[in-house]
Amino acid sequence: MAYELIIVGGGKMGAALAEGLLRAERVAPSGLLIVENAREQREALAARLAGVTIVAGLELEHVGPHSGVILCVKPDHAEAAARVAGACGATRLLSVVAGLATARIEAVMPGPVAVVRAMPNTPVLVGRGASAIAGGAHVTSADLEWAEGVLGAVGSVVRVTERNLDAVTGLSGPMPAYLYLVVEALIEAGVHQGLSREVSRQLVVDSFAGSAELLARSGESPEELRAQVTSPGGTTAAGLRVLESRAVRAAFLDAVAAAAERSRQLGR
Ligand SMILES: NC(=O)c1ccc[n+]([C@@H]2O[C@H](COP(=O)([O-])OP(=O)(O)OC[C@H]3O[C@@H](n4cnc5c(N)ncnc54)[C@H](OP(=O)(O)O)[C@@H]3O)[C@@H](O)[C@H]2O)c1
Repeated sequence: MAYELIIVGGGKMGAALAEGLLRAERVAPSGLLIVENAREQREALAARLAGVTIVAGLELEHVGPHSGVILCVKPDHAEAAARVAGACGATRLLSVVAGLATARIEAVMPGPVAVVRAMPNTPVLVGRGASAIAGGAHVTSADLEWAEGVLGAVGSVVRVTERNLDAVTGLSGPMPAYLYLVVEALIEAGVHQGLSREVSRQLVVDSFAGSAELLARSGESPEELRAQVTSPGGTTAAGLRVLESRAVRAAFLDAVAAAAERSRQLGR
């Protein structure tokens, strides 16, 4: 049987995409195939995703003329997995593999295959991902629209040039991790000031989610919103002065640069 969507690699990102796409009803469970070579992970996915077919290896019969393959394996495994997809007849492939150029995927295909490269992030799990996409040599506007439809079901999508995907890979791909580190540190800071861990966690997590919502909805810049809560000589100003003196801003610049450079290295 041929499937509408085939996710190759059901790890963290593959599973998040599968759950997000099912929740958004972008695909029915019966139209989704997950190819995952780790037995334990297959069992975990089967327990979470009722009605979805989960197999250890992709076969010819799984791929039809309208099937879209989403490549979600680690960079080291990506070319081998793409080669199998090509050999099974895949004609449209969306790769979320960090750093892997569309040309490298195209090179292992038996013919001209539409390859769209994307960088999503894990909030796709709750329908709030932020993805960027770029098309390879054989991609048409219909292929880009298809990729936008898939990732748009689980968040927002922007189109960029492929060269800019390394910058995206340094910025929004790992951004949940950057922000969770900040959240973790702030919860700890509340505990250091005498709050219970539960109270500190609730205050930090709700402030984090609320601030993000305010930023997204208000249309105001982060600078404006920050200025609104920083009275001259006040408590927020005292806290911000410490963050600036410890070069938090520069640390983020360097973190994004290091992650983008790692993406370029992976692609070489
Ligand atoms: N996690 C993120 O936040 C994130 C964000 C954006 C993009 N990405 C990209 O998403 C990709 C996957 O990342 P991840 O964090 O989800 O990795 P992961 O948790 O290690 O998942 C990859 C899974 O694919 C399996 N696998 C490997 N080769 C396979 C094959 N040929 N056929 C079927 N399954 C295969 C692996 O099994 P084994 O362990 O047995 O090899 C593993 O379970 C990476 O290329 C990464 O750059 C991840």
